Amino acid sequence: MNIGKFTTIICLLAFVVINVVTVSSAIADESKPKIGYGRGGRMSGGSKSARADEPIQPISISFDYNRAKVELGKKLFFEPRLSKSGWLTCNSCHNLSTGGADNLPSSIGHKWFFGPINSPTVLNAKFNLAQFWDGRAKDLKEQAGGPIANPFEMGSNHELAVSILQSIPEYVQWFGEIYGLEEMYGDEKINIDQVTDAIAAFEETLITPNSKFDMWLKDYDNSISESEKEGYDLFKKKGCIACHNGVGVGGNSYQKFGMAKPYDKDTHTLGRYNVTKNEKDKYVFKVPLLRNIELTAPYFHDASTWDLGEAVNIMAEYQLGLKLTDSETSKIVAFLRTLTGDQPSVIFPILPPSTSTTPKPNRN
Ligand code: HEC
Ligand code: HEC
Repeated sequence: MNIGKFTTIICLLAFVVINVVTVSSAIADESKPKIGYGRGGRMSGGSKSARADEPIQPISISFDYNRAKVELGKKLFFEPRLSKSGWLTCNSCHNLSTGGADNLPSSIGHKWFFGPINSPTVLNAKFNLAQFWDGRAKDLKEQAGGPIANPFEMGSNHELAVSILQSIPEYVQWFGEIYGLEEMYGDEKINIDQVTDAIAAFEETLITPNSKFDMWLKDYDNSISESEKEGYDLFKKKGCIACHNGVGVGGNSYQKFGMAKPYDKDTHTLGRYNVTKNEKDKYVFKVPLLRNIELTAPYFHDASTWDLGEAVNIMAEYQLGLKLTDSETSKIVAFLRTLTGDQPSVIFPILPPSTSTTPKPNRN
C-alpha cells in the first residue's frame, strides 16, 4: 500500500468516526434544539428506522470499490478515442454535469446521427434489473460494449477500440496492473471484456445518496416540507408506487406504457417485444428510475414532454386512468424533486497522449 492510499484510508476512517460521534451525541441529547443540524432534526433514535417499511429505500453509501479499476473506468468513460471520430465519449450522451443524461430528445451520435430514443441517465443505473429501455443488456458490463460498436453512437468496433488502447503504454500498464496481463508489452493484450468491466466498475460508483427524501426516510423529519410529504402520500395513494418503488424508485420491473389507455404518441417503438418477440410485450418498457428526475428532461422514451408536471399527468392518465387536479400534480412534482441526491463529484481525468502507432480518428 503506498503512502497516498494509506493517508486516504486514515482520513476516511477519521471522517466516519467523527460522524458517528456527532450523530450519536445528537441523538442522545434530545433537549438541544434541532435547528442547524443536518437536513432536519432526527425525531426518533434507535437503529431501525421508523420508515424502514416504506416501499422506497434510501441509497446507501459504499466504499467497497477497487479504486484503481474505478479510476481506469473513469478514464474510459471520458475517452474520446473509444469512438471512431475520436470525438464522442460516454459522457457526451450521459453528461455527469447534467444528471447523467444529455437533455436532448434523442442522442446525437457518429456523424451527427440522431438516435431513435431518449438517453436514460447513468446515475444509479446499477439499481436497474437490466439495462436499456427494453432491458436487452443484462448488466452494466454487458451494456458498455454496445455504444462503442453501435454505428449510430460511437461508430467504432471493439477491435479498433482495443487496438487504440493497446497502442498507448499508460493504458497497457494500467490494464496490466488491474487485470494481471502477464507481460505488459508482450503478447498479453488488453481485451474488450476488461474495457467494459472497468467502465462498469466506474458506473457502479455513480450513485446519488443523501437526497432530501432519503434523509426523511432515515427519520430526519424536517428534511421534506408538508406539501412534499403530501405529494409522496398521493404518489402512494394514486398508485404510482406500484411501478416506481425500491431503491431506484423504479428500475425493478417491466411494465406496459399504456396500461389504462393505449399510448398513441409513439406506436413504432416496441420495447421489450424486441427482446422476447412475445406479443404481450409490445409497448412494455423497463420502468425508469425516478431519482434525480428533475435533472433529466425531456421525459419518456420518446421525449414527448419537457415538463415534469405534464409527465406526471400523462402517467396518471395512461397508466392509472386518472385525472389529477393541478394541486395534486404540483404536490407530486414537489415530492419528485426531493429525490435529487448528491451528484457524484468527479475529478476530470487527464488522458495519456496517443503514440505514433495509435490509429487516427476517422470522421467518416
Ligand atoms: C451517442 C449517444 C450515446 C453514447 C456515446 C453512449 N450512450 Fe449510453 N445510451 C444512449 C441511449 C440513447 C441509450 C438508450 C438506448 C436504448 O435503451 O435503446 C443509452 C443507454 C445506456 C445505459 C442504460 C441505462 C438504462 O437505464 O437502461 C447505460 C448504463 C449507458 N447507456 C452507458 C453508456 C456508456 C458506459 C457509454 C460509453 C461506453 C455510453 N453509454 C455511450 C446514448 C449513448
Ligand atoms: C403500471 C406501471 C406504472 C405506473 C402505475 C406509473 N408509472 Fe411512471 N412509468 C412507467 C413506465 C413503464 C415508464 C416509461 C414509459 C416510457 O417512456 O416508455 C414510466 C415513466 C415515468 C416518468 C418519466 C421518466 C423518464 O425518465 O422519462 C415519470 C416522471 C413517471 N413515470 C412518474 C409516474 C407517476 C408520478 C405516476 C403516478 C401518477 C406513475 N409514473 C405511475 C410505469 C408506471
